[in-house]
Parts: sequence; structure tokens; C-alpha cells
Amino acid sequence: MRCHRIPRRPSDGLIASPYARVLRQGECEFVILSCQFCIGRLNRPPLVVDDEGRCGAKRLPSPPTHQMIDRSRDMPRHDGTIAIVTGAGHGIGRCIASQLAAEGAAVAVLEVDESRGRETVSQIVEADGRAVFVKADITDAAQVEAAISAAEAALGPANLLVNNAAFTDAGDLKGMKLESWHREIDVNLNGTYHCIRAIIPRMQERGGGAIVNIASVNGVRYFGNPSYSAAKAGVINLTMSVASEFGRDGIRCNAVCPGSVRTDNITWTIRQKKDPDIFQKLGRWYPLGRVAEPMDIARAVSFLGSDEAAYISGVALPVDGGMLAGMNVMIDEFILEA
Ligand SMILES: NC(=O)c1ccc[n+]([C@@H]2O[C@H](COP(=O)([O-])OP(=O)(O)OC[C@H]3O[C@@H](n4cnc5c(N)ncnc54)[C@H](O)[C@@H]3O)[C@@H](O)[C@H]2O)c1
Repeated sequence: MRCHRIPRRPSDGLIASPYARVLRQGECEFVILSCQFCIGRLNRPPLVVDDEGRCGAKRLPSPPTHQMIDRSRDMPRHDGTIAIVTGAGHGIGRCIASQLAAEGAAVAVLEVDESRGRETVSQIVEADGRAVFVKADITDAAQVEAAISAAEAALGPANLLVNNAAFTDAGDLKGMKLESWHREIDVNLNGTYHCIRAIIPRMQERGGGAIVNIASVNGVRYFGNPSYSAAKAGVINLTMSVASEFGRDGIRCNAVCPGSVRTDNITWTIRQKKDPDIFQKLGRWYPLGRVAEPMDIARAVSFLGSDEAAYISGVALPVDGGMLAGMNVMIDEFILEA
């Protein structure tokens, strides 16, 4: 089977019709085509047309990806990406949504807090980006399904899902209330699963897509917050399950594991009230000498959600300034004692 390069832009002869059209036939057993959903996502597995020339659901075995990428340097990384970002009304999620939009994506801001979600949309639109707000509480599977349908009705079929929404009240096991345990597992793990469950059949039908889950270093080691940590460990394992089960459908699934990020979420607000210099002090635990900024996380998400990460799936990428690699504060003490 031979693989043909597909023209991308109208000037290159792109077929801008909503339906796929045959580009070239004859030399190969199958026909590779382009359609509006494939623009900018050309290293997705090629699709097969049906008799009417529509973009079909069947996929061909992928040729090596590098043969298919022909990305112009001046083309934004997320040109053609339609992203859904959960919890994008605040903090890291807002930064991820804004960054994806700045890189060319159309973004659905999926949020339980309507005023915050709409504020993110306004910010993106003011910056000449494309975004819509869709309301959902991710703990409710029916609301998630409806919100994803609404997002796709407004923007088109999603090819990137970022599971960012989360909650913690930062308790410990000794003082743990049963409701608190359930709530953290429900938002952080079950909520993430609800979104994945809703998007997968859609991505399967279209021949692929990317999912990026925001986990945490707490999912890998114990750093306090046991219920949150258990949920994030679950998110990391769920990431591997999705990557393994749906890779053949062209679906990639990865997680990022941030360390401490300078945000004003509930937990950090409480801690900052106790110690206004907390972020600066925490920096010494990180080999790079500082805590993360939301943009550090957004850049990693943008990469994992892009075609540049076309052969990366099932990883849990620490975005932690090297903290999981080694704790220099502790090592300094060992060396002093030696
Ligand atoms: N801030 C950090 O230091 C840090 C560190 C590691 C990982 N993380 C992870 O990064 C992500 C974002 O964290 P953040 O600090 O920006 O949090 P944040 O609290 O500032 O924002 C979370 C957003 O999710 C929304 N949300 C909460 N529950 C929801 C629900 N049930 N349905 C829909 N939306 C809901 C909130 O309204 C809020 O806008 C989370 O997954 C968090 O676990 C954060």
C-alpha cells in the first residue's frame, strides 16, 4: 500500500467540503482522503471513503507517522484542533484553554461554575480565539454527555479532550470524613471517567483523537491529601487502560503530573493565608528551584495533545521541575550526616 501526501490548505488544493473526497486513486489498494475534520491532523490514521465519498469510520493500518506529517513551520500547532477542556473556568484549566486557543484550537470550556467558565470564554474571544461555554458537573454522566454534544454542535467534532477539573479539601486519613473521601474520588476519578466514556465512541467513529488527563505527583508518591492522591493514582492507571484498549482506534491517552503549581485554588489560598511566602519556600524542594506556573502545565498539555506527540500514549509525564527524580533537600541532609 502506498501513502499519499494530502494537501492541507485551499492554496495547496485542499478540499474544503464538509465531506471527504477522493484525492487519488489507482496505485493503492485504499484511498486516502482529507475532510474538514482532518485538517491539521494529518498524521491521524488515514480514512477510507464509502461509496458516496464520505469520510468513513473504517481505518487503515497506519504507515509510519513521519511519512504523513508535512506541517508548515508557520502553521499553528493546534490548527484544526477542537478541544474540550474541563474545569477551564479557573487556574490551570483556564490557562490550558487559553494556550490551546492561542495555538489555533477551537475550545469548549466545560465548567460547573458558569460565571468563571464564561469569563474564560470572554478572555479567549477578546484575544481573537474561538471558544464556547458548556455547563456540566462532571460527577453527573448525563450532564457530561449533554455538554459534549452541545460543544460539538457549536464547534464540530472534538479531537482533543483535556480532563482538568478537580477538587480537594486536602484532609488527611486520621481526620477523614466519609463524605470527603467519596467526594474526592467522585470528582477527580469518576468525573474523569465520565468524560472519557462520553468522548471515546465519538473519537472511535472519527478514527482517533487525543486525551490528556491532569493527574498529579500525588498520584505517584505520598505528599498528603490521601483521597485526592488515591483518585489521581486512579487517573494515571485509567490513562494506561484507555491508551491500551483504544490505541488501535487511533486514540492516544496521556497524563501530566504537576507538582506544586502557583494558583489560587481553595487549598493554596488557605495555605497562603497561613504563610504568604509558601510558594517561594516550596521552591527549594524542586531541583529547578521554583514551583510551576500554570503555563508550564499548559505547554505540556498542548504538546501531548498535538500531532507532535503522535507516537506517545499511555505515559504519566511529571511536570514537576525534576522533583520526582530526586529530593535534593533530603540528599543534602544525607550528605551532611555522612
Ligand atoms: N494547583 C496545583 O498545585 C496542582 C498540582 C497538581 C495537580 N493539579 C491539578 O491541576 C488541575 C487544575 O487545578 P487548579 O489548581 O487549577 O484547580 P482550581 O480549583 O483552580 O480549578 C478547578 C476548576 O474545576 C472546576 N470544577 C471543580 N469541580 C468540578 C465539577 N464537578 N465539574 C466541572 N467542573 C468542576 C472548578 O469550578 C474550577 O474552575 C486539577 O486536576 C488539579 O488536581 C493542581
